[in-house]
Amino acid sequence: MHVVAEPCVGCKYTDCVVVCPVECFYEGEKMLYIHPEECIDCEACVPECPVEAIFHEDNLPEEWKNYIEINAVESEKSEVITEKQEPLADN
Ligand code: F3S
Repeated sequence: MHVVAEPCVGCKYTDCVVVCPVECFYEGEKMLYIHPEECIDCEACVPECPVEAIFHEDNLPEEWKNYIEINAVESEKSEVITEKQEPLADN
């Protein structure tokens, strides 16, 4: 499965949600989460993120391994997001 990691925090560009064929992105206050059981590993979102926040779990940098758990837990508690919105970041 794929995971949204730390670069998304405070950014939320939301380019990723538009290309997801299974609508597996969920919106938190500061970042987005991928639902691990819904992601089909199509990789469409990976090149869309301007800050390279999305990784296959096997390619996650060591310091961001905790985001596997964060995505799993928080996606369960959050609302699905399927449309692009204004990012939190300025650029
Ligand atoms: Fe976050 Fe990148 Fe999507 S900043 S909202 S993972 S396009």
